[in-house]
Amino acid sequence: MRRWRNLDSFSTFLGLIRYVPYVACIVALKIYVMMLLVHSRDATTDYADYDDYVVRQKPTQPSTTTTTHEPGWREKQEILQRLNSTVIIPSATNRTPETIWLFYNRMPRTGGQTMVSLLKSLAKDLDYQHQEHVYRTPWQRLMSEEEQRNLATWFEYNFWPKSYDRFSLFINFTHHRSPYVTLRPAYMTIVRDPVEKFISYFRFKRVDQQRAKMEMTWREREKPGASRKWYWKKLKDCVLGGDPECTLKDDSDDFISAVPFICGQFDYCMKHGNRYALQKAKFHAEFEYSVIGVLEEWNKTISVLEHFIPSFFKGATQRYYSTEFETEKQVNKNPKKYKEESEEVKTALKNRMTVEYEFYEFLKQRLYKQYQSIEDLLRLPTTKLISKSTEDPSFSKWDRLDIELGRNMKP
Ligand SMILES: *[C@@H]1O[C@H](CO)[C@@H](O)[C@H](O)[C@H]1NC(C)=O
Ligand SMILES: *[C@@H]1O[C@H](CO)[C@@H](O)[C@H](O)[C@H]1NC(C)=O
Ligand SMILES: *[C@@H]1O[C@H](CO)[C@@H](O)[C@H](O)[C@H]1NC(C)=O
Repeated sequence: MRRWRNLDSFSTFLGLIRYVPYVACIVALKIYVMMLLVHSRDATTDYADYDDYVVRQKPTQPSTTTTTHEPGWREKQEILQRLNSTVIIPSATNRTPETIWLFYNRMPRTGGQTMVSLLKSLAKDLDYQHQEHVYRTPWQRLMSEEEQRNLATWFEYNFWPKSYDRFSLFINFTHHRSPYVTLRPAYMTIVRDPVEKFISYFRFKRVDQQRAKMEMTWREREKPGASRKWYWKKLKDCVLGGDPECTLKDDSDDFISAVPFICGQFDYCMKHGNRYALQKAKFHAEFEYSVIGVLEEWNKTISVLEHFIPSFFKGATQRYYSTEFETEKQVNKNPKKYKEESEEVKTALKNRMTVEYEFYEFLKQRLYKQYQSIEDLLRLPTTKLISKSTEDPSFSKWDRLDIELGRNMKP
């Protein structure tokens, strides 16, 4: 009896196995049809991939052929046409557009780490997200058109308030944004006295191990024995001895000054002493940037940021001087102690940076004017205390420059 039963279930099983190929065929066909559908959706641009917000906005957006320009576009175009012969005067005008994004294109050795800590601290209370750039390729400041467009798309992808910082030359987001998007980020950055920055960078290149190793390997390959000489080079000998690292010849490549960073993604922007680059940088500074802070004027910088970009910096001064921030703050300071450089060295350097200084003075003037315009406001007992959330601030202990150099410096 038992035996017979077993036989029966076995034959049932065998009977079922016959259908397996048919079932497999049907499943495969279904998958194939689904793939076809997905692909046809890709072929016709479907904005549903983005966000509800965009979908809702889409019907009311102007079509791409009838472009609407931001206010003041025509005047700006006219100035751009005759940029070479125009004197640009800094003003206190607030250039912050209606926006939910902030782009901070930071520069090396200008207090960027501190500013990023401040942004991250304020983000929790002001309801935005600060996104750090993940550096995959070192020192990528000059970007291809496609990379710039990808960055613009990244901002658009999720329509929520966010700020983003990166070592990057100025990017025209208006140019790279998608046709159905009307926002661009507010732009900000910080500059520093050019000679001080040059000296700081000269030292930091050698103190930062990864950075030093990269440069030494490269120099050793060019000329055996050159790497140690480079490593032990004194700034004084470099500046006064006519070393190419410190001569700052016109048209030599410049990757650290404020002019290229604010001038933008053009070859002439990175040529030391280029006056057209200076004009372009002044133009962007005056007409595009909300705030360009000055490291030497830190208090004014935070006050102006607070009033010119309130959605990202409201309460910044108070936060900066609060005891909580002391624990959150990260600074990327060179731990080594140095003797003050002589006036002779500084003057020699300064004489090689006339374009840089013209720009630095221009930016200082603009910051002063902006500060003056809010001075009356500052006297009023206004700033409401922001309640600081009590949760434990979990800050990434990554040093940004180290990330850029691929070094993981754990605390
Ligand atoms: C300004 O001068 C530079 C070279 O000095 C030139 O390349 C550029 O085309 C000029 N720009 C305009 C708008 O005239
Ligand atoms: C940015 O791009 C837009 C669109 O192409 C253009 O109208 C505008 O003049 C550009 N702005 C600057 C400062 O070059
Ligand atoms: C900056 O502001 C802080 C706090 O208000 C103050 O203690 C400090 O003296 C100011 N620094 C300068 C240079 O004015």
